[in-house]
Amino acid sequence: MTKPIAAFAGLGACSPERILTNADFERMLDTSDTWIRERTGIRERHIAAPDQTTALMARDASLQAMAEAGIGPEAIDTIIVATATPDRLLPSVACDLQALLGARNATAFDITAACSGWVYGLVVGEAMIAAGKGERVLVLGAEKLSAITDYTDRSTAVLFGDGAGAALLSPANGDRGILSSYLKTDGTLAELLWRPGGGTVHPPSDEMIKDHSYYIKMAGREVFKNAVRSMADAATKALERAGLTGADVDLLVPHQANIRIIEATAEHAHIPMERVYVNVDRYGNTSSASIPIALDEARKCGRLEPGMIVLLVTFGAGFTWGSLVLRW
Ligand code: COA
Repeated sequence: MTKPIAAFAGLGACSPERILTNADFERMLDTSDTWIRERTGIRERHIAAPDQTTALMARDASLQAMAEAGIGPEAIDTIIVATATPDRLLPSVACDLQALLGARNATAFDITAACSGWVYGLVVGEAMIAAGKGERVLVLGAEKLSAITDYTDRSTAVLFGDGAGAALLSPANGDRGILSSYLKTDGTLAELLWRPGGGTVHPPSDEMIKDHSYYIKMAGREVFKNAVRSMADAATKALERAGLTGADVDLLVPHQANIRIIEATAEHAHIPMERVYVNVDRYGNTSSASIPIALDEARKCGRLEPGMIVLLVTFGAGFTWGSLVLRW
């Protein structure tokens, strides 16, 4: 089997304290707890406080990953933040995070691959380590989706939550670490899941406030179908590249968007649900933060043991999708 180049030296997660339940949505919108649970599997999600920025959630997750790795801020050479919800358009969340951590030796930049961002970030971090360009690479998935969610639109409002997850990647020393990965993009489908307003095509305007075009817009059913197809493709490809099959996987940690998408992915990969980590019920879809939050939680509740084969599979706006196999 492939020798890993990069491994996880630390992991951390941050979830805001405030919880928005399905019962809260029943009071706000024409919806029901039953509809939300049956169609999505979601019961509740964490929502950031008004002053709790994407960068602050990223900082809290980073500090845990650094503490586990036993390193201080000056040892970090690279900070990669995957986010679809930057605190402002310029400069990046990664720059704010670098300042908040006091990581004065680090190069910091954001990447945009929506919900797939953290998996994309891990692959970029691994490539930097392979090229000898980094040795202590902090990879974040951090999102304040509540800031771009239209709470008058029942078809999207119930889906999203806030949070952050962090991994510290360093050169592998032995057989534990990233064994294979796969990334894919189809930009022709961009308009099925997007935020049309607020960029250079439609700069901020009064019209935008009226038509809500600065919020997430989604063609739910089309996105669902593509998610099932893409997550299946991703699961297959990373396993093939590692020379493994679903039978070898000890734990599948998929993007937590919808329980039905997760079940379809597991079935396609021939992985029974007992070997799938699910927390979409308690977090909703936290985009790029969803897999690192789930991985951190899986570890804390004893679902991850050293040496286990772990498959990460993701999908998001773009469309982007991807997967990664690790020996934990
Ligand atoms: N509560 C009650 N009814 C709702 C609702 C809600 N929160 N949201 C939508 N509906 C209604 C629709 O208005 C529609 O009503 P109509 O038949 O009278 O027109 C009906 O439910 C069915 O809508 P549809 O969108 O076809 O439902 P669905 O079974 O596809 O479920 C999603 C909707 C959004 C849950 C589902 O499409 C989905 O999960 N898509 C993928 C979303 C996703 O994961 N995005 C992120 C990818 S990273």
